[in-house]
This record gives sequence, C-alpha cells and structure tokens, in this order.
Amino acid sequence: MGRNILCNKEDIKPGEKKVFQVGRASVLVVRNGEKFYAIRNACPHQGAELDKGFLGPVARSSQVKEFCLEEHGGHIYCPWHRWSFDLETGCSDHDPANEKVKTYDVKVEGNDLVVYA
Ligand code: FES
Repeated sequence: MGRNILCNKEDIKPGEKKVFQVGRASVLVVRNGEKFYAIRNACPHQGAELDKGFLGPVARSSQVKEFCLEEHGGHIYCPWHRWSFDLETGCSDHDPANEKVKTYDVKVEGNDLVVYA
C-alpha cells in the first residue's frame, strides 16, 4: 500500500468532494466537517461516477410511520439509480452485505491530505 499526498487539507472545504487519480484508481475524497473519507469513484451497480452524485443522510425505519435520518459519517447517492453508500464503510444502504464500494485509508498529516492505496 503506497502513500499518496493528494493536496493541502484546506483545498477541500467541509461538505465538498473532489476526485483524484491515484495510480490507475479514481478516488473520491469527501470532507464532512473535519473528517475525510476516500472511496473508489465508481458505483458497483453499473459503474457511474459517484462524484456526480450527491451527499446526504439516509432514512432508517424500524416501524411503520417511524423513521429517522442517519447522518453518521454521511452517505453518497449514485447519480444514475440513487443507490446510497455509507462513506465510512463503503457499504450500500439497501444491501450492505453484498454491495460495497472500496474504501481507502485517508489521513491528515501536517497540512497534507494523504491516501494509502
Ligand atoms: S450505477 Fe449506481 S445505482 Fe446504478
């Protein structure tokens, strides 16, 4: 696993996302507050570029007429068919056991944003 400096951490503002080419991989980096996430920029369904999607919470329901919006870490919605993925785990929200986007270890080191891929 290689260490790749992507940019200065302030180049991505809270709530923004940005794509980087890391070797042969297109990596999507998302900043949520002070936390950064890095995932493969391709939907496992039919390959849409996830950076063209939108960030948001996911609705969870345990009973009829009851639901909550889960913010934890944030979620990204695919631009083509609206599958959503947990940015922390890469798991899809509708089928977490079987559908997953690759995630990468991403860290702030000094002022640099570094991904290990
Ligand atoms: S390509 Fe992403 S949900 Fe279909």
